[in-house]
Amino acid sequence: MSELLPAITSWLSTDMAIDMGTSNTRVYVKNRGIVLREPSVVTVRGDDTDSRAAIAVGTAAGTMLGRTPAGLRSIRPLREGVIADFEAAEVMLRSLMRRAMGKRAILGPRAVLGIPYGTTDLEQRAIRDCAEAAGAGSVSLVEAPLAAAMGAEVDITEPIGHMIVDIGGGTTQVAVISMAGIVHGFSLRMGGEAMDDAITRHMSHEHGLAIGARTAENAKLHLTRARKGTDERWLVKGRDLESGYPRAVEVRATEIRSAIDPPIRKILETIHRAMEKTPPELLGDIVDRGLLLSGGAALVPRLDEEIRRVIGLPVVMAEDPFSMVVMGSAKALARKMNTLLK
Ligand SMILES: Nc1ncnc2c1ncn2[C@@H]1O[C@H](COP(=O)(O)OP(=O)(O)OP(=O)(O)O)[C@@H](O)[C@H]1O
Ligand SMILES: [Mg+2]
Repeated sequence: MSELLPAITSWLSTDMAIDMGTSNTRVYVKNRGIVLREPSVVTVRGDDTDSRAAIAVGTAAGTMLGRTPAGLRSIRPLREGVIADFEAAEVMLRSLMRRAMGKRAILGPRAVLGIPYGTTDLEQRAIRDCAEAAGAGSVSLVEAPLAAAMGAEVDITEPIGHMIVDIGGGTTQVAVISMAGIVHGFSLRMGGEAMDDAITRHMSHEHGLAIGARTAENAKLHLTRARKGTDERWLVKGRDLESGYPRAVEVRATEIRSAIDPPIRKILETIHRAMEKTPPELLGDIVDRGLLLSGGAALVPRLDEEIRRVIGLPVVMAEDPFSMVVMGSAKALARKMNTLLK
């Protein structure tokens, strides 16, 4: 009977990997793959933040950001990679887990969640409690850099050095790994959203224009779409800081690129610091194999070239930079890599 119990439990519950990021949450379900990729946003009615008050979660809530009327609030439950609003995070996780499971599940899923490198015990406790409160049957945690490497098909168990740089919305994590462990890592509580803030400041200082967070992010995303070799121009709409009236300002790709330069310099400095601390043997491995770049904000045009030029390391861009952490977390769970799971 005692051997039967795990078998029955496994049959009644689903294995699920969740990467709850500052900007986006992805959910992977065993045998089905990534079933959800949605912005980490919850919209609630009134002052309460429980499931009854939630009117939208994920993509639907994302389109409401910055557009809600009085009486509604859009909440982003995470800040700098960790939970900032516990109740909102719980509402978001419950809704996304239910949607991912569909009607099939009877027991709560066995869930593995990616966590940023360097999170405190208290922050880890909050993530664990949150997932349990949201309905997970069991919860384990895996450090995002290890998961990202596994997601990129790196054999992390070998005694070979690998450097991972994951640039998300709210964090940048740089880690050197070998033999399934982090030799040393740096966690910068800053990522793609700091670039958006830099664009907002630039528009305000240089053009006297107040713009919303979505507009700032769109200006950054536009850089990826701008044709290479041309200094494309486009219009950014906002409110004139002096007159208060709406105004559109023409910006150039090179101008936006230099506006986001300060946060990019910080990221490069962090990579440089990590490199300086890396033992020569491992550094040799990294020079041979290249540094692995993942996370959505790693898509900033020419960032890989700059790392190559400034830091002097070859760069390998993850095939799908948004999915490495969730894919690797799913692998750690499927392969029962208990030394990785907390
Ligand atoms: N083409 C692009 N160019 C530049 N930045 C991009 C591009 N596409 C997405 N981003 C940025 O990537 C960030 C989101 O990436 P990702 O989903 O990896 O973050 P996250 O996992 O939610 O955050 P974190 O890991 O920091 O908690 C956002 O800041 C977004 O603006
Ligand atoms: Mg992330």
